Amino acid sequence: MYGKSVLVTGASSGMGKACAEYLRNKGYHVYGASRHSDGSIEADDKSGGFIKMVRMDVRDDETVKSVVDSMAQEEGGIDIVINCAGYALAGAVEDTTPQEATDEFDTNFFGVLRVCRAVLPCMRAKGNGLIINIGSVAGFIAIPYQSMYSASKYALEALSQAMRIEVKPFGIKVVLIEPGDVRTGFTSGRVWTEVSKGATPYKERCQKAVEAMEHSEMSGPGPEIVVKAVAKIIASKNPPIRTVVGADYKLIAFLKRLVPDRLIEYVVAKMYS
Ligand SMILES: NC(=O)c1ccc[n+]([C@@H]2O[C@H](COP(=O)([O-])OP(=O)(O)OC[C@H]3O[C@@H](n4cnc5c(N)ncnc54)[C@H](OP(=O)(O)O)[C@@H]3O)[C@@H](O)[C@H]2O)c1
Repeated sequence: MYGKSVLVTGASSGMGKACAEYLRNKGYHVYGASRHSDGSIEADDKSGGFIKMVRMDVRDDETVKSVVDSMAQEEGGIDIVINCAGYALAGAVEDTTPQEATDEFDTNFFGVLRVCRAVLPCMRAKGNGLIINIGSVAGFIAIPYQSMYSASKYALEALSQAMRIEVKPFGIKVVLIEPGDVRTGFTSGRVWTEVSKGATPYKERCQKAVEAMEHSEMSGPGPEIVVKAVAKIIASKNPPIRTVVGADYKLIAFLKRLVPDRLIEYVVAKMYS
């Protein structure tokens, strides 16, 4: 429906890697972006699909532009983008410097902005395209001791929902996938703020809260659960604005609309304290 060329950011690990492999096996020409690309090409002879690993730091305009330009040259454009690149930042608000918060936003929010701005001109020229942004349940329920991660995902929700309306007249669709805890490299890649590594009044509570989340991530489903959502979206003429991934999280999303904020706050505080 959308065409064969796909850009997947964060393709070296977790959800991005699993999506890239799935799409290669379905015959797509996948450009898998990561900061540490080895330039490898993995082809699937049966389907004709491939994954070409390309170097991109979503914090760096030049590397984003260079990948998009080479896809335009080699593939005649970009049909689908899956924005997976991201990481978690742990630490209480008081223990997080503006620079650490800025870095988090630079990847999780501005990284998506950079990629979208770079691909939209070719999608508009084709009059077709699909952008899948990987948000999070933390993008609609604020997580204590990971507030900047949550904030970056809340911001991504707003960007996605507003952009969706703006680009619809050009035939481009924008959707959000909001996973709950998933077993990937995300847990080991979690960054702690400098202050939170030392003695701070928040230390014990912060550690307990993040440990609870890490336990949930490591005992959660693998990235295939996100691949399933991606496959459904790509096959759908009119994909939903947001897809929450994980049965428990679907229920949480549903309840969030029905119950008072104080009750949600009580449950979240219980979960992470
Ligand atoms: N796992 C979960 O529980 C969970 C839940 C909800 C949402 N999410 C979201 O899902 C997305 C994928 O995460 P994951 O779970 O698959 O984690 P992961 O296994 O740690 O993968 C993260 C990917 O992001 C890439 N990345 C990080 N910073 C980058 C940068 N500056 N430029 C380019 N690539 C960068 C990494 O590649 P390199 O290091 O090779 O550059 C890696 O491929 C993230 O946006 C995350 O916030 C995860």
